[in-house]
Amino acid sequence: MAIQIPRGTQDILPKEANLWQFIEDQAREICRLYHYEEIRTPIFEATDLFQRGVGDSTDIVQKEMYTFQDRGGRSLTLRPEGTASVVRSYVENKMHGEPKQPSKLFYMGPMFRYERPQSGRTRQFTQFGIEALGSNDPAIDAEVIALAMHFYHNLGLRNLKLVINSLGDPESRSQHRQALIDHFKPSIGDFCQDCQNRLTSNPMRILDCKVDRDHPLMATAPSILDYLNDFSVSFFAKVKQALDDMGIAYEIDPTLVRGLDYYNHTAFEIMGEGFGAITTLSGGGRYNGLVSELGGPETPGIGFALSIERLILAMEAENIEVPYDETIDCFIVTLGEDAERKTPVLLQQMRHAGLAVDQDYVGRKVKGQFKQADRLGAKYVAVLGENELQQGVINLKDMTTGEEETVGLETLATTVKNKLEE
Ligand code: HAM
Repeated sequence: MAIQIPRGTQDILPKEANLWQFIEDQAREICRLYHYEEIRTPIFEATDLFQRGVGDSTDIVQKEMYTFQDRGGRSLTLRPEGTASVVRSYVENKMHGEPKQPSKLFYMGPMFRYERPQSGRTRQFTQFGIEALGSNDPAIDAEVIALAMHFYHNLGLRNLKLVINSLGDPESRSQHRQALIDHFKPSIGDFCQDCQNRLTSNPMRILDCKVDRDHPLMATAPSILDYLNDFSVSFFAKVKQALDDMGIAYEIDPTLVRGLDYYNHTAFEIMGEGFGAITTLSGGGRYNGLVSELGGPETPGIGFALSIERLILAMEAENIEVPYDETIDCFIVTLGEDAERKTPVLLQQMRHAGLAVDQDYVGRKVKGQFKQADRLGAKYVAVLGENELQQGVINLKDMTTGEEETVGLETLATTVKNKLEE
C-alpha cells in the first residue's frame, strides 16, 4: 500500500503555494511598515523551554507536544508555538543589551501540536507571529493589535471581530485566583479530572476547559476585571484609548483567558465568521514575566500569532482570490536531433537574461509541443527546425497576436525580452 501523509498534516500543491507566497509577502510587507525584523529559531527546542515558558498546566504542555529523545538522550520538543523560542533567543543572544529597544521581531514557520484534527486545526500548522520585547508602553499593545488587523484587512478580510481582555498584573491575578478557588472548590467534584488538578495548580485554566465549558459555575465565575488593581485598570484603559484613537473596534470579553500561561495585562483574539466551528483566527497578549522566567532580566513583552491555515479558510469563506501568474515567457518547439542539442543552450541564454522559459522533455511530436506550450501559458513560442538551425535563425510566434517573425539565434533572448518590456 502506498504510504500516506501523516494525520493532521497537509501538502501544499503549486497553485496553493502561490496563495501562501502571496500571504507570506504581505506578512513581510506589514512587518516592514511597522518595523518588525525577522527572527528564525529552530523547529525543535529543549522540552524544558515549553514546560517553563508555555506553562506546565496548559493543554499544550500536558497533551499536545511532540516530545522525543534524541540519540544523545536529550528531551527535545517540536515547537508548539513561537513565543517561548523567541524569548529564549532574545535572552541567549543578549538582545536586551542592544540599544535598539524594544526589540521588534517577527517569525513565520511550522508549529506542531498533537490535537484532534478538524477543519482549521491541524497537527502541523504555520504561524506568522510578532513579538515586541522591552516596552511597557500600552501604545505598543495597541500597535500589535493594529498590525494584526491591518494585515487581515490588506488581504481583504472584512468579517472580523476583535475581542480583548485584561488579565491584570500578578497582584490582581492572585486576588482573582483566590476568588476562583472559592468559587469552584465546593463543586469541584462535578468537574473533569484536569479541572480538579487545575483548582490548586492554576484555577484560571478551568475557565478555558473544553470539557466543562457548559457547567453553570463557568458563567458565574468571578471576572478578572473585578479584581484588577489601580495600575492594571489604568493600563487597560490606555490600551483601549489607543485602540479608540486609531478607530479600531473591539469587544471586551472578561472570560478570554487564552490557552498559554505566560499572559498578563492585555489579552486578545481576533475571530472570523463563516468558516466552520473554529473561529479564532489569531491570539496574543502581554507576557511581562516570561523573559525573567527564562533566565533574562526583568523585561516586558507583547505579541500575537496567527496561523496561515486558518487565514486561508477565512479568505475562502469571503471568496477572496489572489493573482496567480500561470504563464511562462517562451517555449521552444524543437524538430530534429541537431535542434534538440541547440535548444538547451538557447534556454540557458534566455534564463540568464531573466526569462522564464521551457521546452519539451517527454518526446512530444511538434503538435504535442505546441499543446504543451499552450498548457504552460507561453507568451511566445520559438520553433527551431534543421533549416532554421542551418541559417542561424529561429521562428518566433507571439501567442497573443499570432504574429510570426524570424529572428537570429543570437538575438532570441534580447528580442523576447524587449518585446515583453514593450
Ligand atoms: P495560540 O492562541 O496558541 O497563541 O495560537 C495562535 C494562533 O495559532 C491561533 O489563533 C490559531 O490561528 C493558530 N493555531 C493554533 N493551533 C492551531 C492548530 N492546531 N491548527 C491551526 N492553527 C492553529 C500562541 O501560539 C502564542 N504564541 C501567540 C502569542 C505570540 N502570544 C504572544 N505572542
